[in-house]
Amino acid sequence: MVRKSVILGFLLTVLTTVIKAEDPYLFFTWKVTYGRISPLGIPQKAIMINDKFPGPNLNTTTNNNIVINVINNLDEPFLFTWSGMQHRKNSWQDGMPGTTCPIPPGKNFTYHFQAKDQIGSYFYYPSLGLQRAAGGFGGLRINSRALIPVPYADPEDDYTVLIGDWYTKTHVALKDNLDSGRSIGRPEGVLINGKAGKPDGTGEPIFTMKPGKTYKYRICNVGLKMALNFRIQNHKIKLVELEGSHTLQNLYDSLDL
Ligand SMILES: *[C@@H]1O[C@H](CO)[C@@H](O)[C@H](O)[C@H]1NC(C)=O
Ligand SMILES: *[C@@H]1O[C@H](CO)[C@@H](O)[C@H](O)[C@H]1NC(C)=O
Repeated sequence: MVRKSVILGFLLTVLTTVIKAEDPYLFFTWKVTYGRISPLGIPQKAIMINDKFPGPNLNTTTNNNIVINVINNLDEPFLFTWSGMQHRKNSWQDGMPGTTCPIPPGKNFTYHFQAKDQIGSYFYYPSLGLQRAAGGFGGLRINSRALIPVPYADPEDDYTVLIGDWYTKTHVALKDNLDSGRSIGRPEGVLINGKAGKPDGTGEPIFTMKPGKTYKYRICNVGLKMALNFRIQNHKIKLVELEGSHTLQNLYDSLDL
């Protein structure tokens, strides 16, 4: 009797270990709707995710399974692309028209993908009809899981910087321009995380830093047309990651995005 229960106990332990070894799942439900914003002082229609512009930051770790139920409450088809993500096992879900069907208005679709060894900073955005000009984008970070060393010290804090040109025309007007062979013209401004500082520099601060500390910035150009030069006055920037890989760590005065 004693022997049998020992064996049973052993088997049970093995089973639990196998079950625990499955990679963690992260579940999200995202509602996509229209909203009103006025980053340049002019009210305009935007695409919001869970009432946010830009959308939520997707914070993941390598090997996480990510499950996102996207509910399209717009009156037009909608499709997210997770640009740069390899979509292991589910490559057809990369969210480009042609590989994934758009989500019809009023319907939902659940994306399911695993973040593999692609540590770093990305962003997701809508891939149809210039909808990106109205928002619907957000940061996507893939952290190294605890086992894997990172070749630099932990920063004091870690910020996502979504910088891009911005138009006050609607995405539909911009698309009509392109469809009729015209250009989308010049953008009206530049936004950082949905805000356009004031020309005299008195706007509300977007990031707070303490003197003498080191901060990590995850910078993505989410705009449509313009290359942008990013710098932090009187500071050097050390580049530690690019397109999902650690880099040789060179210092720069500014970065072209
Ligand atoms: C992101 O996730 C990591 C680990 O999964 C956690 O340590 C970190 O605090 C999270 N960051 C944010 C901003 O939620
Ligand atoms: C749509 O959302 C419901 C829950 O709100 C979920 O049960 C269902 O699986 C989703 N459908 C798709 C195709 O993702």
